[in-house]
Amino acid sequence: MYKKLAITLSITSVLFASGCNKEVSYSKDVKPILTASCVECHDGKGEGSEESGLILLTYEDLMQGTNYGQVVVPGNGVSSTFYRLIAHETDRKLHMPPHHKEAGTSRLMAPLSDKEIETVKTWIDEGAKNN
Ligand code: HEC
Repeated sequence: MYKKLAITLSITSVLFASGCNKEVSYSKDVKPILTASCVECHDGKGEGSEESGLILLTYEDLMQGTNYGQVVVPGNGVSSTFYRLIAHETDRKLHMPPHHKEAGTSRLMAPLSDKEIETVKTWIDEGAKNN
């Protein structure tokens, strides 16, 4: 039983390590993060899309951005609002998903993990492709 677990863990780490050279995929890597942590408020009806215009259901929606313009600068993660909000590089009340009492949203959620934040940044740095 323990041996089986150890084997599973070592296979997982090999797959993970070899995955480092692979491009981040929008559909396999980024979209699931948005579906889990963002879509419920940014689905076209929720408070996130009501207030900002940003819908996060499809790639096209994301690239369309907010009422004020694009939030992804392809090839430049650190300049992308989309990355800056999840990585806590903006005003606290704008951190996404909302997780501070300053947020002013109907509820708060857990921030994204470092790995999820890094995945989004790498995807943008690699050109924010619809891959
Ligand atoms: C609990 C609801 C909620 C969740 C979950 C949520 N948002 Fe938001 N989001 C909002 C609200 C409300 C606004 C409008 C805030 C404002 O403009 O003051 C907003 C605005 C934004 C904006 C535009 C900010 C601007 O004004 O330029 C971006 C980008 C954004 N959210 C990204 C995300 C991402 C990415 C996630 C998931 C990681 C997420 N949001 C999850 C409620 C939410």
